Amino acid sequence: MSRPFLTLAIESSCDDTSIALLEGQRKVVATVLSSQADLHAPWGGVIPEVASREHQRVLIPLLREVLSRGGIANPARELSLLAVTAGPGLMGSLLVGVMAAKALSQAWELPLVGVNHLEGHLFANVVVHDDLAPPFLCLIVSGGHTEIVHVRAFGDYRMLGMTRDDAVGEAYDKVAKLLGLPYPGGPAVDALASQGNPRAFPLPVPLRESDAVEFSFSGLKTAVLHLLKRFREGEPLPLEDICASFQEAALNALMVKVRLAVMATGIRSVALSGGVAANSGLRARMTASREWKSYIPPRDLCTDNAVMIAAAGYSNWKRGIRSDLLLSPDPSWPLAPQ
Ligand code: KG4
Ligand code: ZN
Repeated sequence: MSRPFLTLAIESSCDDTSIALLEGQRKVVATVLSSQADLHAPWGGVIPEVASREHQRVLIPLLREVLSRGGIANPARELSLLAVTAGPGLMGSLLVGVMAAKALSQAWELPLVGVNHLEGHLFANVVVHDDLAPPFLCLIVSGGHTEIVHVRAFGDYRMLGMTRDDAVGEAYDKVAKLLGLPYPGGPAVDALASQGNPRAFPLPVPLRESDAVEFSFSGLKTAVLHLLKRFREGEPLPLEDICASFQEAALNALMVKVRLAVMATGIRSVALSGGVAANSGLRARMTASREWKSYIPPRDLCTDNAVMIAAAGYSNWKRGIRSDLLLSPDPSWPLAPQ
């Protein structure tokens, strides 16, 4: 009997350290994740130096844990491939994962593949949807990115449009900060929005009238700031209605451009990925669309995780892509030429 093809993947691009073991393209054997959210919460954002030190502290214990959970006694013999996020992300954070992966590939004499983090987000869909095949569109919405990508084939991506300024997740986090909500703000704003009236405070939908596939979220954040000035100091804020109104404008801005991309390309399969894909309002709107078929990963595969990196790494490996000891993190590695 041939032994299963096992990929061990490391993700450390921002503030989550995750390691996963994936069999073939879709079978998750074991996965572990250490979140730094509590560590960064007092500052309302990720402190890069703190992030890289924490990755360094937890990486080897997590590695031991995932191997033990996966029943791997002899990694050199039982594993088939190492995959690691090599960008985009924070340099200090990426370095921890990339250096560890390079060392392990030498020690265990295993092939190594450096993975683009955004391609990883896209592959979160591949892990759970075996009927998803190119060509399709992918809306990637995270703390650092807001883009619509045309997947012509796995490994062949065309950027249809991106944000001019802030990413949508960044807007959620900044609005949460303005409202005194904990970091990361997306889940808190999402929960409050579901209790509020989305029409309570009409806010501008950025770039609604433009016929280009592009986004802008910095003006929406400023609109929320101006809205807050309408309330007197010490007056209790209607947080639910403010969050619902902000979310209404932010999600409308996303949906208008997905519709535009579907019309421009004639492609009617749309995958959703990235941390903001965990948003309940966005998931509901994407699923409700009659204009396209939606593919959405479960929430734990939307936010940063190593399962998606293993899936993208395995796909790259099958297409003959290999990295070597020259692999170096690229903090601004684009998924597709612009
Ligand atoms: O993909 P991710 O885990 O990390 C990056 O690669 O950026 O995305 C994190 C972002 C944060 O901005 C966070 O606030 C946002 O995803 N997020 C959400 C939700 N859960 C996470 N935004 C809106 N609603 C959510 N439920
Ligand atoms: Zn991410």
